[in-house]
Amino acid sequence: MKIEGKSYRTIWFENNEVKIIDQTKLPHNFIIKNLRTVKDAIQAIKTMEVRGAPLIGATAAYGLVLSIIEKNDLSFLKKSSEDLISSRPTAINLKWAVDRMIKKLSGVNDKDILKIALAEAISIVEEDVVFCKNIGLNGLKIIEEISNKKDKETVNILTHCNAGWLATIDWGTATSPIYHAHQKGIKVHVWVDETRPRNQGANLTSYELNEEGIPNTVITDNAGGILMQRGKVDMCIVGTDRTLSNGDVCNKIGTYLKALAAKDNNVPFYVALPSSTIDWNIRDHKQIPIEERHTEELSHVEGIDKDNQIRRVRIYPKKSKSLNLAFDVTPAKYVSGLITEKGICEASEKGLKGLFK
Ligand code: MRU
Repeated sequence: MKIEGKSYRTIWFENNEVKIIDQTKLPHNFIIKNLRTVKDAIQAIKTMEVRGAPLIGATAAYGLVLSIIEKNDLSFLKKSSEDLISSRPTAINLKWAVDRMIKKLSGVNDKDILKIALAEAISIVEEDVVFCKNIGLNGLKIIEEISNKKDKETVNILTHCNAGWLATIDWGTATSPIYHAHQKGIKVHVWVDETRPRNQGANLTSYELNEEGIPNTVITDNAGGILMQRGKVDMCIVGTDRTLSNGDVCNKIGTYLKALAAKDNNVPFYVALPSSTIDWNIRDHKQIPIEERHTEELSHVEGIDKDNQIRRVRIYPKKSKSLNLAFDVTPAKYVSGLITEKGICEASEKGLKGLFK
């Protein structure tokens, strides 16, 4: 998608280095950063310079390529894989991408390993682009239907966090149907949950929608309920970091509360996902590792002052205790449907298995 009219992807490989858009600097500064070692890749994932389930999967795949460039040695590759998988615990894409790379590389000789690793990382990336595009084409049908029912009036869509192209390689998951609808001339407007504490909604989703010319309004995380009660939300679309085979969805903290409000107000609540976020193994959502991040993300906020200086300030007493859980789980019963690259299905084992045999 575009930034200042120029097309970008979130990650690419060039001259034996991995290039990323440093998302910790957005929206105020657009900086492309080079990752040269697997340690750089791990650090970028941990600090959320790259974030979003599909993008951290892709970064892990490229991280293994960097690890082979650094040291073509099996025990180093194994250690790199373990470190990458544990760099963020909730999104299943990290493990999915690393496992896929390792499977591809098993038994490959030293001479060919780099070439094969790079080809597999590129195929993970390219596949994600196609999947996200197809998620968009599938989700477009729902938006189009609502638009027709509203006599082509603006369709108001609420989203949480950033499941946009910045969270993937291109198109995004939750935003892909929105981009496709906009490109087709359907009138859309997006309610963007700010998504405390890291404000991925306000900092990233609003930013990328602005760059694509899509009308959007940033709201506090708690505003969705009243907007739904007043008929201002036609549908919700969110992403997911881990989707269980029973249709339960683990996504950014606060998603669950939006789903409850949506249910109470008969607002359709859709989850958009590429199949790489499905965890076929865990059956009980209580087994999903929920990332607990540093409480400084809660106690401090960052912004730009009138002199264009980035400032970071504390917002509550040093003495106050805090807990920063990064994800929650929305039970399948609150999900109207899963929008995948293969089509839309019920949020259930039957629905998912019908699409992904
Ligand atoms: O902590 P983040 O910013 O990595 O969390 C991202 C999300 O929760 C997204 O909604 C999710 O990864 C889906 S991305 C297509």
